[in-house]
Amino acid sequence: MSREISRRRFLSQSAAAAAAVALGSKSFAQGRNLPPAEILLTAAPGSAQILPGDPTPINRFTAKETTPARGIVGRPGDSFLGPTIRVQKGQRLRVLFVNNLDNKSIVHWHGLDVPEASDGHPRFAVDPGETFWYDFTVINRAGTYWYHPHPDQITGPQVYSGLAGLLVVSDDEEASLPLPQNRADIPCVIQDRVFNTDNSLVYETGGREGFLGDVVLVNGKPSPNYYVGTRCYRLRFLNGSNSRIYKLAWSDGTPMDVIATDGGLLEAPVSKPYVMLAPGQRVEVWADFRNRQVGEVVTLKSLEFSGAGLFGGALPQGHPFDLMTFSINRQEFDNLSLPKKLAPFERYDPTKAVNYKNPRVFDIVPNAGMWLFNNLPFEMENVSENEIVRRGDLEIWEFKNTWPGMKMAHPIHLHGPNFQVVERTIDPAYQSSYNNVKDGYVDEGIVDTVMLMPGETIKIAIRWDNFAGLFLYHCHNLEHEDRMMMRNFRILP
Ligand code: C2O
Ligand code: CU
Ligand code: CU
Repeated sequence: MSREISRRRFLSQSAAAAAAVALGSKSFAQGRNLPPAEILLTAAPGSAQILPGDPTPINRFTAKETTPARGIVGRPGDSFLGPTIRVQKGQRLRVLFVNNLDNKSIVHWHGLDVPEASDGHPRFAVDPGETFWYDFTVINRAGTYWYHPHPDQITGPQVYSGLAGLLVVSDDEEASLPLPQNRADIPCVIQDRVFNTDNSLVYETGGREGFLGDVVLVNGKPSPNYYVGTRCYRLRFLNGSNSRIYKLAWSDGTPMDVIATDGGLLEAPVSKPYVMLAPGQRVEVWADFRNRQVGEVVTLKSLEFSGAGLFGGALPQGHPFDLMTFSINRQEFDNLSLPKKLAPFERYDPTKAVNYKNPRVFDIVPNAGMWLFNNLPFEMENVSENEIVRRGDLEIWEFKNTWPGMKMAHPIHLHGPNFQVVERTIDPAYQSSYNNVKDGYVDEGIVDTVMLMPGETIKIAIRWDNFAGLFLYHCHNLEHEDRMMMRNFRILP
């Protein structure tokens, strides 16, 4: 048992010790004392049992720790997903990516602030049979991050074919909080797929609007049931779908107690009637089953909403369905209850932004069957005047989804540091569809992806503290991303 693990056990048992843990630099020391994690990460064709009957041909990430095993690599059950990579804040991660696919690829660490050479930009994509080295220190807060391919114009099909995995960061601050752990800490990766009658995957690239599946999988299984005890659980949801947006809610109307977003824990839990989860986003929910009866079944649904686009297909965007169930099958005891305070972070003051009076504007514009930022298509190496920022600056960026007649929601994602939502405004003409999603935005947290409904304008605050270089911003509707809804921005040193 490593020193670190025994220390964490001790902390979780001792409230006095927990109270003594200082924040900030000390939580960095935690990972710095660990040896670097070194992983061999391979993407290759394989198959997985998803539906009854024939296995489904897929692509999958597999990983091997090449340093002495410390349990960094795990799997979210028996699924086609890549292994869950578990690291400490402050820990150095070295990954040798091996591309054994039949097409070029590169891996991006979604949500992590890393040097440009390790960010998985499409300009670094490697051909089949080739490898790529990543080497970076994890500086993000504890939270639920993920990794997926990012090659130019084929990110959508590669993610869809099975290439995605979670990267869970822990730190001392999180360890000092009384949160559900181990078997009570359940990742739920949500993805939708279409299957042929022989159980192979269907991916049509025809539509410009995006791709929706009609079978919704959680951790690689259609509408799974999880057996749980009468205790509290930490559910980590990732929307790993290409285009589908979920409106997550408990079927019996119990509010969703949200404890974390993309960039980790909130300052305090927030209670929402439902939670909107657009592609790329994560949200963590505290599920309290202490007052449930053994034998009870709790259903997590995606509720109905409208006005976000993608009206066609067998399961159109916004149609309701049951996502998964939790069957209470045992009496259990834990002494946890939803904490009143979670993990504080620096809240950006927008009036301190260098461009507070004159935010950078990114207008989402339809053009020749695509959506573009400021009418510019993706260019591998180029940036415009409007896409150059300075390291250390706090800025306001404004994204506008207000083009006349716009009927499509867009989840906007930035590489590099995470950001905070400052303000949303909605064009009154779109108010009615907005009303059925707005109470499910979790804008209280640190995020790397935000959803914009048609008619919506959003202002975010962002500061580039760490790395200069060329990074991406794009729509995380992967079909939009693959069709030019992606641009670079440059962080000057
Ligand atoms: Cu999860 Cu650039 O993407
Ligand atoms: Cu990303
Ligand atoms: Cu989009």
